[in-house]
Amino acid sequence: MFRSPLLLILQLFIIESIAKSTSLSCGYSHTCLIKASESSHGGPIECWGENLKGETNPPNEIFQQVTSGHMFSCALTMHSTVQCWGDIQNVPVNTKFQSITAGRMHACGITFSNEIYCFGRNEHGETVPPKKRSLYKQVACGYSNSCALTRDGFVECWGRMKGHALPQTKLKTISAKRERYCGVDMDGNVVCWGSSNREKCEDRQGQYLDVSVGIKEVCALHHNNTLDCWGAMQSVVPYNQTAEYHQISMGVDHACAVKLDGHVICFHNGPNYNLHEAPLGMALEF
Ligand SMILES: *[C@@H]1O[C@H](CO)[C@@H](O)[C@H](O)[C@H]1NC(C)=O
Ligand SMILES: *[C@@H]1O[C@H](CO)[C@@H](O)[C@H](O)[C@H]1NC(C)=O
Repeated sequence: MFRSPLLLILQLFIIESIAKSTSLSCGYSHTCLIKASESSHGGPIECWGENLKGETNPPNEIFQQVTSGHMFSCALTMHSTVQCWGDIQNVPVNTKFQSITAGRMHACGITFSNEIYCFGRNEHGETVPPKKRSLYKQVACGYSNSCALTRDGFVECWGRMKGHALPQTKLKTISAKRERYCGVDMDGNVVCWGSSNREKCEDRQGQYLDVSVGIKEVCALHHNNTLDCWGAMQSVVPYNQTAEYHQISMGVDHACAVKLDGHVICFHNGPNYNLHEAPLGMALEF
């Protein structure tokens, strides 16, 4: 049957825009996914995994971005306000965010005036960003600490960081778990900081687009959308070296990725590696 090239291009475009508007976040032992549709920048949320405090029971609404922590998740509504479920306190009601990121028991977001607003548990000042009046573009949260990227690409951290040296280079993006932080510098190299030497993630040269930090390993997306993971003796992520991915999110014993074709795949470090793949929008059990 004849298929017009235009139709094919349109289909590819739709698939890619689904992959791009999909928001996926692996918490510590659960995962939430926004099932994006081609016509909007949002969709309903589905969560699965461990459910100790209701962290896999999201409200039945349309959201644009989701982030998962230890026993909670939060998401941005289509009005850019935040809603959370599971074990998290002091969730702001009217504050509007461009993006939000969960740590273990707290979360921080970037407001529309490029400031940082944090909420949740505050044991070591992790919800109290510095009063430097910098403007920020991204924030990442760990265990009792948070770091943000200024609009110029510099890192500022607060909470318990034990005085570890921060990167002095400009970064494009950052990610965290516990006290482990990594970012991608302007040349595409992965640069890590935060933990003691033994625990610190290993830097890696390359042309990377994005990075996600897990408890034991780091995964990063190459410029050609293939995955690269390192750090663990036994990887959580037995990823396919030639498949193309749009997004990767690391949990503690699991990781999930959105492939360029819109499919979501999850890896789980159980007694046997379980590999789950499902069409976009289908919950994966593990
Ligand atoms: C993607 O890029 C990496 C790093 O440059 C390279 O090692 C890998 O072979 C490439 N993969 C494909 C499928 O082109
Ligand atoms: C890996 O991905 C490539 C490209 O998407 C695909 O052709 C191949 O079948 C996959 N291999 C496995 C083992 O799934």
